[in-house]
Amino acid sequence: MDNRQVAARVEELLARMTLEEKAAQMVQIPYPFVGREESLRWAKMGAGSFLHVLGDEAREVQRVAIEESRLGIPVIFGIDAIHGHGLNDHATIFPTQLAAACSWNPDVAYAMGEVTAREVATDGLHWTFSPVLCLGRDTRWGRVNETFGEDPYLAGEMGAAIIKGYQGEDLSDDERILACAKHYIGYGEAVGARDSCDTEMTYRKLREVFLPPFKKAVDAGVASIMTAYGSIDGLPFTIDPISLKDILRGELGFDGFVVTDWDNVNSLVRRQHVCETAEEASVLAANAGNDMIMTSTEFYQAVLNAVRGGQVKEEVLDDAVRHILTIKLRMNLFEKPEKKGRPGCFGCEEHLEKAKDAADRSIVLLSNNGVLPLRGVKKVAVIGPNADDIRAQYGDWTYFTHPRLNMEHEPIRPYVTVKEGVENLCAARSVECVYHRGCSVLDGEYEDIAGAVETARDADAIVLVVGDVIPQVGEEKDRAVLELSGRQMELFDALRALGVPVVTVLVASKPLAVGRAATQADAFVCAFNGGMFGGEAVAKAVFGEINPSGRLPISFPRASGQVPVYYNHLPGWHCQAGKGYCDLAAGPLYAFGEGMGYSPFVYSDLAFDRETFKASVKVTNAGERPGTETVQAYFNDVVSSVITPVRQLIAFKQATLAPGESAVVEFALSREDFSLINRKEQRVTEPGEFVLMIGHSSRDEDLLKTSFRL
Ligand code: BGC
Repeated sequence: MDNRQVAARVEELLARMTLEEKAAQMVQIPYPFVGREESLRWAKMGAGSFLHVLGDEAREVQRVAIEESRLGIPVIFGIDAIHGHGLNDHATIFPTQLAAACSWNPDVAYAMGEVTAREVATDGLHWTFSPVLCLGRDTRWGRVNETFGEDPYLAGEMGAAIIKGYQGEDLSDDERILACAKHYIGYGEAVGARDSCDTEMTYRKLREVFLPPFKKAVDAGVASIMTAYGSIDGLPFTIDPISLKDILRGELGFDGFVVTDWDNVNSLVRRQHVCETAEEASVLAANAGNDMIMTSTEFYQAVLNAVRGGQVKEEVLDDAVRHILTIKLRMNLFEKPEKKGRPGCFGCEEHLEKAKDAADRSIVLLSNNGVLPLRGVKKVAVIGPNADDIRAQYGDWTYFTHPRLNMEHEPIRPYVTVKEGVENLCAARSVECVYHRGCSVLDGEYEDIAGAVETARDADAIVLVVGDVIPQVGEEKDRAVLELSGRQMELFDALRALGVPVVTVLVASKPLAVGRAATQADAFVCAFNGGMFGGEAVAKAVFGEINPSGRLPISFPRASGQVPVYYNHLPGWHCQAGKGYCDLAAGPLYAFGEGMGYSPFVYSDLAFDRETFKASVKVTNAGERPGTETVQAYFNDVVSSVITPVRQLIAFKQATLAPGESAVVEFALSREDFSLINRKEQRVTEPGEFVLMIGHSSRDEDLLKTSFRL
């Protein structure tokens, strides 16, 4: 069906729908919460969508919707398939978005999207609530793991790629599903990182920092957008017509449908206290431009009353239903209500290979005094609470880690923890490998530091795996203290005292304030939540089977109190202007863009043509192993009408080079890349002086610079 045929079919259907059917089409039912009977009743009434229901239960809902509702409009099933179709036991689990963002490689994001879509579609489902395009700037926030990190440019590139992976070229493709860019907008900017209603935001800031990834998502054709829990200047985003209508539809040209987040309509009454009744909340939500209402089923009756009472025009419902039906028709749902997917694809070789590749590329080596890659060792000790904890390695949103879902399940193979990965590689090299947990991540669960020390005493190297665990991760799990919890630091100190080289590995949902566990270790490896093969990737990096190429998409704080500590801050931010807090060294412990491999890269010959906006730089692999460098381009507007960031990423490219090999890496930039949002909220490039900086990371000393005037 072409666009004209779709539009005609939508109008024809709309004309036949009663007011009740329109209201029902706008409601999304949480199956596990309302139960089977109630769900089937909603299906008969013509509810537009259901979430968190799989398999035969979903099939039954669909059958009832098609056969027993008056118009037989098929429902769409949505699920949180966030880093793989994780709520299905047999799915391929990828690194979290944050870990995947360490690859700085949109092809990795595309592959995650493609594989996840195929597995979700094979379950007969249509829609994932992914990607998260919020930024992880205040890392106390529990959901940092779901973001692509702190930077709008990188998040936008990775986001657009995963969306294309989910959706493909054609929404009717049996192996593709709808994506949902969320949470629109600024959710991560919750004050004090306290999830979730109060956000420090202005429209100018929104446009400058938080909108760019959503613009890329819309340009990539994202079919749906989810609103955020937060607020702007006292107005919850769910009822903000400026961001939802003027900006999203008007300026960005979004043509999919908008879904609220979980129970947002009721939250207007119960949590945000801007409405007295569900009816009042429903009026505001409908009029602001929400098309589908997640879980607040009160909306149905409330909006009917409101239309009858004249507070909401029926055309508002028409518009919402039009957006939903257009997507349903573009998906060809009426002909094929159930996606076929690719039977047998769960955990198939191709999918597992892609998860392995993503895990390998997400390993970030942050320090190394030469101990890595391990050579000539006879005995390796793997120690630490996260060395053999697959739950911690998976992170949030899988079938056995998400608290709202089914925690009871046991993890299903294949997966490889760090302990198993190191054991396997040791076995292949006839190296002895010993393991001890040492302590738990949370206080008081388990502790045998002395035992761990004994185990490691005569080893030639220690791989110590620290981090966080599920009770510290996710929604409503914001942390005030980012330092290593429990007795993990004591464990490090005790091992350090042995005099055996210590490689510290972080398996965690976000940058923790790792302190001396990193700086006093012989090497520090950041793995975040690497998914099924995260542990294997760590082992491969440790033994040099891969040359680590990950770069940080997010800054590491020196202490909790230094957060937020993102790189693209405004000038005058004392903690990075060289002075820092009076009781802490300045700048992050590890900076955005940072990461090393076993080959150093040397930069030279930065050139920029101010007429064509072409930039180039020469990069040389000065090491002895082939390696991949991520060449990063930043700019600064030296004097601007509003305060602009000390630097902002505008492009990056990867180059894989043989030892001694050089390449000239070119960037086709544009005038708009050097723009800002002015006080009138317009995106403009102001005349004056600019600095273009290209190099290895966001650190000043890693960048070559050239100034020019526009
Ligand atoms: C989260 C969303 C998620 C939704 C459905 C909400 O609480 O904020 O990200 O998609 O629940 O599970």
